[in-house]
Amino acid sequence: MSAEGGPIMRRSMRSRLGGAYAATLALLLLACGLLAPAAERVQAARAPAGAALPGDAARGRQLFLREGCYTCHGTLGAGAITGPRLAPGPIPWTAFLYQLRHPRGTPPYQNIRMPEFGPRVLTDAQAADVYAYLVSIAPGPPAAKIPLLNER
Ligand code: HEC
Repeated sequence: MSAEGGPIMRRSMRSRLGGAYAATLALLLLACGLLAPAAERVQAARAPAGAALPGDAARGRQLFLREGCYTCHGTLGAGAITGPRLAPGPIPWTAFLYQLRHPRGTPPYQNIRMPEFGPRVLTDAQAADVYAYLVSIAPGPPAAKIPLLNER
């Protein structure tokens, strides 16, 4: 009897210990996850809204192509079913940078996840270049002024 009970006991002890470790780990991860973005959010709140670092639009265009932003958002940031419109008139700088660092995954694009662009992939200065590119994109002519759209 005890020969059978032994291994079973040990196994259940081990799984209970494993559970405790997992719970501690989960708590630690949760704490890190909750604290880190909170600190960043405070910083973002202090920065003046929409005040980007001065960026270079030409370099930004190259980065927009090199980093693959265009594959989901279009070469001119016009948007598609793969990602929303980014230009003309991009969202404020702080929201832009926050989206790069922590893509929200908002609907209706939930089947396509925007990858995270951390500071090692795209520095703040490079992000400012991309932002300058988006700011530089002029709105197209109104539909009423495009002959092809007004043919009957
Ligand atoms: C694989 C596709 C994909 C790539 C690549 C991608 N995005 Fe996105 N992006 C999305 C989707 C989908 C959303 C909407 C869902 C979300 O908010 O995460 C989005 C949202 C955004 C938004 C928020 C727009 C708004 O109006 O709220 C910005 C800004 C943005 N992307 C910029 C970029 C930039 C800059 C790059 C390149 C460095 C990039 N994205 C690369 C798919 C992509």
